[in-house]
Amino acid sequence: MTKELKIHPLDPLYADELSNAVSIVKRDSGLNDTGWFETITLDEPSKQELAQHKLGDPIKRRAYVCCYEPSSNRTLRGIVDLDEGKLAGWEHVKGVQARIVPDEFSAGEAIIKKDKHFIDACVKRGITDLDKVLVETWAAGNFEVAEEQGERIAYCHCWVCNDAGDNRYGRPIGNLHPVVDLQRMKVIRIDDFGVVPLPPDTSAIRPTENLRADIKKLEIKQPDGPSFTVDGYGVEWQRWHIRVGYSLREGLVLHNIGYEDGGAVRPIMHRASMAEMVVPYGDPANGNFRRNAFDTGEYGIGNALDSLKLGCDCLGHIHYFDVCSHDWLGNAAEIKNAVCMHEEDFGILWKHTDVPTGTMRAVRSRRLVISSLCTIGNYVYGFFWYFYQDGTIGVEVKATGIPFPSAIAPGEKPKYGAMIAPGIEAHVHQHTFSFRFDMCVDGEKNSVREVEFQAAPVGPGNPHGNAVEIIDRQLESELEAQREIDMQRARYWKIVSSERKNALGLSTAYKLVPGANALPLLDPESPVAKRAGFMFKHFWATQYHPEELYPAGWYPNQSGPGKGLPEWTKADRSINNADVVTWYTLGFNHLPRPEDWPVQPVVYASFHWMPDGFFDQNPALDVPPNGFQE
Ligand code: NI
Repeated sequence: MTKELKIHPLDPLYADELSNAVSIVKRDSGLNDTGWFETITLDEPSKQELAQHKLGDPIKRRAYVCCYEPSSNRTLRGIVDLDEGKLAGWEHVKGVQARIVPDEFSAGEAIIKKDKHFIDACVKRGITDLDKVLVETWAAGNFEVAEEQGERIAYCHCWVCNDAGDNRYGRPIGNLHPVVDLQRMKVIRIDDFGVVPLPPDTSAIRPTENLRADIKKLEIKQPDGPSFTVDGYGVEWQRWHIRVGYSLREGLVLHNIGYEDGGAVRPIMHRASMAEMVVPYGDPANGNFRRNAFDTGEYGIGNALDSLKLGCDCLGHIHYFDVCSHDWLGNAAEIKNAVCMHEEDFGILWKHTDVPTGTMRAVRSRRLVISSLCTIGNYVYGFFWYFYQDGTIGVEVKATGIPFPSAIAPGEKPKYGAMIAPGIEAHVHQHTFSFRFDMCVDGEKNSVREVEFQAAPVGPGNPHGNAVEIIDRQLESELEAQREIDMQRARYWKIVSSERKNALGLSTAYKLVPGANALPLLDPESPVAKRAGFMFKHFWATQYHPEELYPAGWYPNQSGPGKGLPEWTKADRSINNADVVTWYTLGFNHLPRPEDWPVQPVVYASFHWMPDGFFDQNPALDVPPNGFQE
């Protein structure tokens, strides 16, 4: 990938820039030979820099770099000024552990598989072919175990591959958990809670026989090409203006989301991303309480993006965006087709029939889909962003892959899980995602309102008991703006412009419309809950601060309590006529089913942003009846 001439300040880091950053850090930071690269990604320009930038201006490019140095057990980070060819800052971040990167994940496995006690524990279970064994070095969390404090620890889970060779998680090894020191690359101990028979081999994930033969070809054709235009990472489609971005940690990031109206692009969001996630598992036995994946902050989503395949991952006229990841040595690793963009027919957009005359208009809806998929161990997450012609933005998570399987002894019944295959249980867990939206609805100054409804008391003004009171109130500050969904009151939140009014004289706004969701089932004082405080509220609003990007803090790996949103919002800053950032927690409970084995059909979780008085009337009245211009 080479740098285009028309590079934009928000373009993801290019391979040559990434390599430059590595050279400069190696030359100037004092990092020693044991050091490796956790993150090399674009240090995004400030809002001021972006506001001043005009196309064709020379642009400043900076890289954010985070390293881990095993010899000193230090996490170090800084900014590289790529134009000046020098470090613009470098610091030791005390008391934190860098993310576990994929190379470290595999290195940990290799160490464990050579450990005599681990081999003995396998033999005790009748497993002699170590090539078939998978050991995953999961982030250990922080359970206040004295010997783990300040150390770089991974808590491991083990499986044997199925006979078909296509499911490394096919036969879980029960009760066997090596604990590894990733700083010294040595096994600390083997947690062996007793032999559970290896479950029988079950079905293959990629069968080649007995595939259904009754499904005909489906082709999506756009003979005149797609309706979007692409310039580098910039996209225009049906009045939407969007810039595709990427961060090594969050994966797909969207910037500068705006809608063209009356000849000008009206800003809605500066930046949108899935900023953190956590999947706490609900089984307390043996080592199972250790499974609480903060996949973004503990492992990284951007370095796990799939290279998407046309016809499998994506169907239709696709535009792919490539991004540049890297390995722990700092070698650039391009991910081709990391982000997919295409149009989809989405059924009816609107319809009206004049019954007496039979005249009608039904308009088809088209949506723009920008998505990426990432594979993290057993699991696959898809992050899908939908842009609609009526100004709606949809956000959807697709969860698939292999549900985390555990062995269960014959005759035993799962207490905190469900049987999904013979000898295999899957524990109940919660998938929880925190989306961050840096808002700018018709300008930088926004306010936050909560809208809900209640039955009015029966009385002289409401004799029939049908009156519905609409409660629309301002949330003034960060502590006031920590809210939960309330189905009884049909609650939602609006981000309101301080500057612009619509034709009715009301402030223009976008509303966040929750869909199905969940609340944490963790005890609030549990070690995991304290590290994932963001889970406990569906909605948060904060005053923008450039360092406040990740709701469980910058370093969730073995983190202490209270980081991120709970910590920042103690300041209780004003969100009235302020630069507002909103955070939405999207979750679902998952008690896997037999139908989720050996691979789980996609589970969907979603929510929407809708214009609410942002436009003066239906903005999609002008969509042609058959959905396209003849
Ligand atoms: Ni699940």
